[in-house]
Amino acid sequence: MTYKRYTVTSALPYANGPVHIGHLAGVYVPADIYVRYLRKKGRDVIFIGGSDEHGVPITIKARQEGCSPQDIVDRYHTLIKESFRRFGISFDVYSRTSSAIHTETASEIFRKLYDDGRFIEQESEQYYDEEAGQFLADRYIIGTCPHCGNERTYGDQCEKCGTSLNATDLINPKSALSGRPPVLRKTKHWYLPLNEYEGFLRKWILEDHKEWKTNVYGQCKSWLDLGLQPRAVTRDLDWGIPVPVEGAEGKVLYVWFDAPIGYISNTRELLPDKWELYWKDKDTKLVHFIGKDNIVFHCIIFPAMLHAEGSYILPDNVPANEFLNLEGEKISTSRNWAVWLHEYLDDFPGKEDVLRYTLTANAPETKDNDFTWKDFQARNNNELVAVYGNFVNRALVLTHKYFDGKVPERDTLLPYDREVLDEVKAIKNRVETAIENYRFREALKEVMNVARAGNKYLADTEPWKLYRTDPDRVRTILNIALQLSADMAIIAEPFLPFSSEKLAGMLGMNERPWERIGDDDLLPAGHALNTPQLLFEKIDDEAIAKQLQRLADTKKANELREHTVQPAKPDISFDDFSKMDIRVGKVLEAVKVPKTDKLMQLKVDTGIDVRTVVSGVAAHFTPEEMIGKQVAVLVNLAPRKIKGIVSQGMVLYAEDADGRLRLVSPGVEVACGSVIC
Ligand code: 2FM
Ligand code: ZN
Repeated sequence: MTYKRYTVTSALPYANGPVHIGHLAGVYVPADIYVRYLRKKGRDVIFIGGSDEHGVPITIKARQEGCSPQDIVDRYHTLIKESFRRFGISFDVYSRTSSAIHTETASEIFRKLYDDGRFIEQESEQYYDEEAGQFLADRYIIGTCPHCGNERTYGDQCEKCGTSLNATDLINPKSALSGRPPVLRKTKHWYLPLNEYEGFLRKWILEDHKEWKTNVYGQCKSWLDLGLQPRAVTRDLDWGIPVPVEGAEGKVLYVWFDAPIGYISNTRELLPDKWELYWKDKDTKLVHFIGKDNIVFHCIIFPAMLHAEGSYILPDNVPANEFLNLEGEKISTSRNWAVWLHEYLDDFPGKEDVLRYTLTANAPETKDNDFTWKDFQARNNNELVAVYGNFVNRALVLTHKYFDGKVPERDTLLPYDREVLDEVKAIKNRVETAIENYRFREALKEVMNVARAGNKYLADTEPWKLYRTDPDRVRTILNIALQLSADMAIIAEPFLPFSSEKLAGMLGMNERPWERIGDDDLLPAGHALNTPQLLFEKIDDEAIAKQLQRLADTKKANELREHTVQPAKPDISFDDFSKMDIRVGKVLEAVKVPKTDKLMQLKVDTGIDVRTVVSGVAAHFTPEEMIGKQVAVLVNLAPRKIKGIVSQGMVLYAEDADGRLRLVSPGVEVACGSVIC
């Protein structure tokens, strides 16, 4: 089917952190290639982006940082938008879900579904924090995982064993707001009965869209085979779009209800008078670029919403990618295990295309893939520099050397010359097919084959050897090599737009029409070229070592934190705490306990008395290091015999990540017996 226009969306990233290479490889780079290609083909296309600014994680981040959710989204929206701009992600609009037009659009759609009786109203019991006076999202409840016993598990998922949970599954649940056990309270919510759309979705996906990527089709099939359940589309939360019906005070739309509507709101912002053509006309092709974790929302829930609404088109395709790992480990925002786009742009100025190239060449299109800095370096040095850059540089430099920088006149073409040009035309067709079927890795490989063919052509014809004996043949060879360079400037543009711009500048090309790829007169004879510069430069080991060192530092910091910070113990009452009598004491004498490695017998002035304490520090301090030091002593610990010595109390230490003990002492000398409270 041929379409009149295209609406291309890319997942709206949560505005609670910067964008990293996983987001880029999964969503934004392929979407940008697709859109740039369509524009080059002269198609009517809009590319929609924006920030997802609602949801619980944003409120949690705001609490952690002691600021408002609006402060958080303002900060990250600005950072993300600017990073995308610098990286050449060519959105036609990049807006945000906290905009007024989005509230209006999402509310209208909710209201329409509500008025049409599309929702079920249902009461359920949910955790409520009586001290904070609010219902608690699952992420706001911490307790013990019923599967693995992890005591710091959040109510939605256990980070230790990976099990998905409901907050009510947790053992010993506590509110993250007040630390108190929450109570169950009745609350009303609106549900979209997905089960009612199961038949429609089965046909639309499983029969009518067999061409979808196997990973996407497979995930949809498993969801459908499991059977769909009604899904709540409202939440008890104070951050989001208020539910626009009476009796819903204090409730907001569920973030996954409003976020995809953000695509529509942003289109309205871009084209206030024409937006409906891009969302409601059956001649429009709608394509959602997303990561695999978003499949169910874009293939099942959002289409069910739009179908229920009745006036919208549904996506023609949802080419979701799998995940990109970094140096063999899962990318993680909380563990800072990522390459952040804004940092990359600062560290590698002018090398936007190197990252675009690496992420496409290694895109996780069919399975999870790994980004390594060594591969990044190799792709730059062995492919961009050695193949693409080397070819166009030779064509330009030789033309300047022999023909004063002007495209030489061509003689009659030999069969080999014609073959090379024909091969470029064939490559163009293969690139088109690959892009239109969302196979961007394959498309990029084909693009590089133009430069490969050019390098081979120069190596086979050796114009530098021929010039003295047959300058006319050299004219033809360089003319062809320059046509191929111009082809590269066009065909590589969707993938490597910065380099295409630079190369077009060197070739003095004003236009780069896609349809002319493979023509033998893209650059007419006599056309003046500009001064050649290197299109790509080698990346040295030092730059790579710096990035690897940064990751090694991150890993060390994470290990230290994970090792040092033990999980919190269950809460105790104030009375429990006040039973402990901890005082400042001074070590007067210290001797190692014979026949032990760890024990030291101390005589401590506690201010109350001078007493004996046996302490397990002999491996960490010498007696001399202990004598004269002020320490913290638990003085009302019941006496007990250790190696025949009665120990009356306990000296307290801090244990660092390596298991080393340090004294806990007051910062300045204080009277022995001072209470630690
Ligand atoms: O997974 C995410 O980062 C979501 N913020 C994606 C939302 S896509 C769309 F629905 F807005
Ligand atoms: Zn667990």
